[in-house]
Amino acid sequence: MADLSTTYMGLSLANPVIVSSCGLTGTAKGIRQCVEAGAGAVVVKSLFEEQIDADVDTQREHTELSSHPEAEEYIQQMGKHLGPSDYLTLIETAKRENQVPIIASVNCVSSEWWAEWARQLQIAGADALELNVAIMPRDPDLSSESIEKRYVGIVDAVRRNVSIPIAVKIGPYVTSLPSLARALARAGAQALVLFNRFYQLDIDIDKLVPAPGYQFSTATEIYQPLRWISVLSCQVDCELAGSTGVHSGREAVKLLLAGAQVVQLCSTLYCNGLDRLHEILDELTGWMDGHGFGAIHEFRGRLAKLTGQHPEAFERLQYIKALTGVD
Ligand SMILES: Cc1cc2nc3c(=O)[nH]c(=O)nc-3n(C[C@H](O)[C@H](O)[C@H](O)COP(=O)(O)O)c2cc1C
Repeated sequence: MADLSTTYMGLSLANPVIVSSCGLTGTAKGIRQCVEAGAGAVVVKSLFEEQIDADVDTQREHTELSSHPEAEEYIQQMGKHLGPSDYLTLIETAKRENQVPIIASVNCVSSEWWAEWARQLQIAGADALELNVAIMPRDPDLSSESIEKRYVGIVDAVRRNVSIPIAVKIGPYVTSLPSLARALARAGAQALVLFNRFYQLDIDIDKLVPAPGYQFSTATEIYQPLRWISVLSCQVDCELAGSTGVHSGREAVKLLLAGAQVVQLCSTLYCNGLDRLHEILDELTGWMDGHGFGAIHEFRGRLAKLTGQHPEAFERLQYIKALTGVD
């Protein structure tokens, strides 16, 4: 039977299917269940900067100094330094209870806290960090260059503070992804996670108000990470993790063929339960057996060479084919 074992950022994984950062990985029990369902690694639910502030608020409630502005500032600093202890405890517990790599995830807004939090998560025992850098470019005064500088600055600061591997999870809304990807790899990112799926905006046409869109992806959303992983895997000096739209073994196979080192699952587990993970592993094994592949490295990136070397020519050809096919 096919051997699914692989590595991700230098960590050994029994298989390349990871549970991505989400509510399913926000508790010790949830993480244990993901591991029991067969996850090769788990990315813990992100620690958000807003939670860090909330922790500070809790400490403020328990002190009589709260009315004094200097004390207030001190408590702010102290709170951010000590951190939301629950999250650090979660990482420690997850490490103690499970044999698979535990990847901590952090999402900060203000740049100074990225490095400090990364350091604390390393101390808590995380095997690696996923930096959930969710910059939505809404502001017309913010140039592409300045946004890219922010991405690189965060990785640079974290890299100087920790020795564990760093993955950067980004959204699809960037200008020149190959250029940014290369800069992030140079700054010290061992992996890029493509892509985060942001809050979907919808409009309620009866009430005439904005409304939240459907929270979960569908399998057709695989095309976006698939394109970019095939384009980038020949061009950047870091590993790539495919995220968004992996709902079956088929999507996992496609991303691996395009050059992904691992794939991440979220929506399908919410929609179909954790047993889906095992089914996806079975589908992956079945496909490998059917094609005579004994190990992941025998086929990983096989199609990246077709699509990645001359992406413009390849894409234009596909585009023309698609258009003429419709007529
Ligand atoms: C309910 C929910 C919570 C999520 N929370 C996080 C999070 O804390 N951090 C993060 O990086 N991504 C988060 N995500 C995004 C997922 O990790 C994933 O990147 C996205 O859903 C796309 O993958 P999918 O198509 O498999 O769902 C969340 C997604 C969902 C649906």
